[in-house]
Amino acid sequence: MLVSAKEMLNKAKAGKYAVGQFNINNLEWTKAILLTAQENNSPVILGVSEGAGKYMCGYNTVVGMVNGMLETLKITVPVALHLDHGSYEGALACIDAGFSSIMFDGSHYPIEENIEKTKELIRIAGEKGISVEAEVGAIGGEEDGVVGGGEVADPAECKMIADLGVDMLAAGIGNIHGKYPANWTGLNFDVLAKIQELTGTMPLVLHGGTGIPADMIKTAISLGVSKINVNTECQLAFAAATREYVEAGKDLQGKGFDPRKLLAPGFEAIKATVKEKMELFGSIDKA
Ligand code: 13P
Repeated sequence: MLVSAKEMLNKAKAGKYAVGQFNINNLEWTKAILLTAQENNSPVILGVSEGAGKYMCGYNTVVGMVNGMLETLKITVPVALHLDHGSYEGALACIDAGFSSIMFDGSHYPIEENIEKTKELIRIAGEKGISVEAEVGAIGGEEDGVVGGGEVADPAECKMIADLGVDMLAAGIGNIHGKYPANWTGLNFDVLAKIQELTGTMPLVLHGGTGIPADMIKTAISLGVSKINVNTECQLAFAAATREYVEAGKDLQGKGFDPRKLLAPGFEAIKATVKEKMELFGSIDKA
């Protein structure tokens, strides 16, 4: 059964580790992530962007697929199904469809409007035991065609949003989605420390997990980050493994064209990437 992300993240914050949010794109992605979590006895969060939700034929399809897998694969570790960077309308649709967690990305609204909409969603989600993530300071890079500049959040605004009763807070600290440019200056740990000082026990969320060096991930966790989002890295691993298979001509040998064979190396590559992240984040055996 899907669970809210609240309890697993509070435990992670107290235990100084982070739970990975891995974004899903299709059946192979979902199965690879769930199996890896189970094999490593780790809690996990499946992230679904609005674009990926559309791609997978809507939120009801996603909920049906994930619930079916939890049962058939006998998944017993805590799993949350989470809307990633949701609009207000998207969040409502996911609450209706049976998601167990939502993110409302109101970072592009003036702070007053971000607060009003966040409050309303906390009320609606709260009635169903669904956890809520809010964002302050847009995360840079490109996601679903939306390009942000990599802002650094104002700690006072973070405190204001945290006090509304969200379960987890994403704050921009120079992190961006996708690959980091060569001239990237790194995460702003002074701001992260200030945010953590003001928000206390609130689990903090680090977006743009792809390509952040291991030592920065560890420092971020030590400063209160308890959820780390990873998307691009699984995509790159999947693409590289698939390319290798095709370039080796394996799709031309025997029944190598069968999708169950053609997609298998990519599937294994996602599993390996997810396991590596779980080790780095410290969530193994924390289910
Ligand atoms: P990356 O694609 O950079 O790993 O970011 C994922 C993310 O933050 C999803 O919200």
